[in-house]
Parts: sequence; C-alpha cells; structure tokens
Amino acid sequence: MAPVRHFLAIPDLSREEIVALLDLATRMKRGEYVEKPLAGKTLGMIFAKSSTRTRVSFEVGAYQLGGHALFLSARDIQLGRGEPIRDTARVLSRYLDGIMIRTFDHADVEELARYGSIPVINGLTDLLHPCQVLADLLTIRETAGSWDGKAIAWIGDGNNMANSWLNAAGALGFELRLACPAGYQPDRKIVERNGALTRVLLTTDPEEAARGAHVINTDVWASMGQEEEQEERARAFRGFMVDAKLMGMADPRAVFLHCLPAHRGEEVSEDVIEGPQSRVWEQAENRLHVQKALMATLMGAA
Ligand code: CP
Ligand code: NVA
Repeated sequence: MAPVRHFLAIPDLSREEIVALLDLATRMKRGEYVEKPLAGKTLGMIFAKSSTRTRVSFEVGAYQLGGHALFLSARDIQLGRGEPIRDTARVLSRYLDGIMIRTFDHADVEELARYGSIPVINGLTDLLHPCQVLADLLTIRETAGSWDGKAIAWIGDGNNMANSWLNAAGALGFELRLACPAGYQPDRKIVERNGALTRVLLTTDPEEAARGAHVINTDVWASMGQEEEQEERARAFRGFMVDAKLMGMADPRAVFLHCLPAHRGEEVSEDVIEGPQSRVWEQAENRLHVQKALMATLMGAA
C-alpha cells in the first residue's frame, strides 16, 4: 500500500506536484473533470477557529467529488475537553478517509498526521496557511501566465500567510519581497530556509517591496487569536496600508491579492480591493478548485 500523504506545508509537494495539482484544479474549474474519486468517502473538518471560505469550499468540494464532509467544531468534540490529539487521530482514522484541520499550534497538526493513518490537510495554523497559497498561485498563473521571472510583494504582517508565501517562493523559485514592521517579521527559520533557495528581500519599507512588483499581497494585521493585540498592531502597522499610491509603484499590470477576510481602511484601502487590479474574488473561488484537486490527489485516485 502507498504511504499516506499529508499536506501540512507547501514543501510537502515537489515543484512538479504543485504544477500537476494546479493543472488538475484548472481542469476541474473548466468542468473537464467529471470523476468522483471521493465516492463513499468522508472528510472530517476540525475547526478550532472561525472560517467562511475554508469550511464552505472544502465541504462543497468534497460533495462535488462524490464524497461527504463532516464539520467538527473543536469546541464540540472531546478534543476541546482535553482528549489528546494522538487519541483523536487514531479514532478518527477508523471512521474517516481524510481530515482537514484549522487550529492554533502547528505542532498539533503534525501530531495528528503522525498518529493518524489517513491524509491530513492543514486548513490554517498560527504558522502556515498552505491551501490559501495554492489558490493564490493558481490565481497568479491565470492572471499573469506564470510566476517565473515575477516579483511577488507581501506587505504587512509576517504571519501564517507570509510564511507560506516564503515556502512557495522556495519551492518554485520566484522572487519574494516582504515588507513587515520591525518585530512582526516572518518565522526566522522559514526565511532562512527559503532565502537559501530563492531571492528573498525582507524590509520594513512597503515601497521598497512594491516597486515594480507583479503581485501585491496583504492580509489582516491581527490574525485569529491576536484580537487583543489589535490596537497595538494598528499603531505598529501605520504606513502599511495597500492603497492606490502603493499600487501605483508596482508594475502597471500588477494584481492585488488578499486571502480575506479584509479590513478596509486598515491593511487595504476600499479603492484597491474594489478596483480593477483586485483579483480577490477569483482568489477566493480558487480555494474550491485547488482543494478539490488536493482531496482527489490525497484521498482518491485522481
Ligand atoms: N482565507 C481564508 O482562509 O478564509 P476563511 O478564514 O474564511 O476560511
Ligand atoms: N492571517 C489570517 C488569515 C485568515 C484567513 C489569520 O490567521 O487569521
């Protein structure tokens, strides 16, 4: 039997596998894929944090592939009352065919994968958000043709999204420029690892990152679990809003991406998110297509 494969981080896939996954997602999006690789199969979706896109796109995606998805709020299952992850992993592996989990500590997702015997998909941790970045890569491929030779800018918090962008840059070899306020930089080890694989610029100056860039990317200043830091972060991130002036410094064909939910007037201005360079709705839609490709690959025989 083939070993169980998980998707906890972008480097779990090779460059060739990422491209194959996006190709499959594109076929699915075009309606060229009619197989039902999840027939008779169930995806369990454990959520310890809120979600609109991840929850709905995984549930709809599983259904469209012939399978079923089960919403498991971490508050309602015994995990929330202290049942160990490793016990949950072994029990759920006997009912389900795959688990998608959104939680705080990335180590919990690794433990779930280590003790379970079915594929585990990371639906966001404090450290990484790899499914979102797969969708973003598809969006860039659709709008710019390719990421090859392109400069991608990240403006804002060095958070789970920034860390996953670093992993994507390392895997695919494009240039990544991150502008984050001092003290809000991405994970040091992830910067080091990917900085050795591709061109990574880390700056505190949004204009330096945006100048001539082909993609301008941002995210909220206070992620889930950091709500009480909101005011302090709003002060630290002053000058980091992606507005028309900053977009004007990018390549004229540059697109704006945001994983959503967005806070207009904080990390992005109303005119940019609603403007002609914004691709945020396509980006949100692409979650469905890439995750279907991921489920078909990991849980079924794509
Ligand atoms: N982008 C994203 O993951 O959205 P949700 O938090 O709504 O799932
Ligand atoms: N960085 C954000 C992403 C939300 C999809 C968070 O973790 O809350």
